[in-house]
Amino acid sequence: MNVGELNPHLRLLLGPGPSPVHPRVLKAMSTNVVGHLDPDFLSVMDDCQVMLRGLFGTENRVTFPVSGTGSAGMEAAVCNVIEPGDKAIICVNGVFGGRMADVAGRYGAEVIKVEAPWGQPIDPTDVKKALDANPGAAIVGIVHAETSTGVLQPMEEIGAACQSHGALLLMDCVTSLGGVPVEVDKWGAEIAYSGTQKCLSCPPGVAPLTMSERALGKMRERKEKVKSWYFDVTMIENYWGSDRSYHHTGPITMNYAIREALRLVFEEGLELRFARHALASKALQAGVEALGLSMFAQEGDRTPTLNTVSIGEGIDDGEVRKALLNDFNIEIGGGLGPVAGKAWRIGMMGHGARQENVVYLMSALEVIFNRMGYTKKVGEASAAATRVYAEALA
Ligand SMILES: Cc1ncc(COP(=O)(O)O)c(C=O)c1O
Repeated sequence: MNVGELNPHLRLLLGPGPSPVHPRVLKAMSTNVVGHLDPDFLSVMDDCQVMLRGLFGTENRVTFPVSGTGSAGMEAAVCNVIEPGDKAIICVNGVFGGRMADVAGRYGAEVIKVEAPWGQPIDPTDVKKALDANPGAAIVGIVHAETSTGVLQPMEEIGAACQSHGALLLMDCVTSLGGVPVEVDKWGAEIAYSGTQKCLSCPPGVAPLTMSERALGKMRERKEKVKSWYFDVTMIENYWGSDRSYHHTGPITMNYAIREALRLVFEEGLELRFARHALASKALQAGVEALGLSMFAQEGDRTPTLNTVSIGEGIDDGEVRKALLNDFNIEIGGGLGPVAGKAWRIGMMGHGARQENVVYLMSALEVIFNRMGYTKKVGEASAAATRVYAEALA
């Protein structure tokens, strides 16, 4: 067998994830692998838990990175608190809400969907109506930042409604954690999960999860075992808690990665980090408008971490993305589901949310648009993005 050396391109990852990995994270990943019960690793686990609590805005004891990508976080979050026959109110305004409904159904929940059109947030009044109509509902599941549409969901009113109805609020923070404020305790969320490859500047591989004592109480009162062995927190908490007893072999290197990524988050400071994401998105939007395009999600509903751009009439979605990749080594995302072919998804996440990336992307798009005859303007999109930075930093 003659298999060639691995030599992937050095891409600028500005799609919906993975996003650019910070060099310090890559360096941490090349350090010595120890055993999953080695004292050195046990302290890595402690560090991850402390920093994740800080980032999630929670005091929850059970807060740790699940082994697996964001979907593992989703599955772990759902399967521990759902028993067959439980009512699960799931908010669906994009792909990932739909996926959460699917997961809840597979674990035996009676799923009640609260929907909003793609590109709009969920109306809290609709959640309240669903809670009133379904007394005893076990959970309300919702996506904080919907990666398929670029919408950021306001959480406080929905959290308060869940608290007053006794339902557990379960929140997907895959495209929000580390890029915009996430306040698990303040919002009354009882379960939240995320991923590493979006705003944490890490490769994909572990999924931060947090569960409150109320959520753990629901889990402990189960009549039958958690249907998933791998994601059963009644067992995993013994490894991540004080017992430190073996459950499965933790992905050591990915835990080094998230530890370093979280160190970077707190070195930068949460406020500054969120401001950096907001500024990158603002500059990107100015560039997009200078190109003659418009944003897909409405102003006020947008998450700065994932920017959806409506693809103008006559513009060839696939050809533009192909040119970005082949000629400029830039990846951006196409649309999903009903938005396929209609919108681009541009991530400004983690280490990617920086001035040089926005300006480079805008220059590249303008070159491609000129070549394809979509514009005759030169330098205006990158100038518009640069101006936003110049004004903010003046
Ligand atoms: C909001 C949201 N939830 C869940 C997932 C699933 O995460 P993963 O692809 O890491 O399994 C994603 C991935 O893009 C996401 O954007």
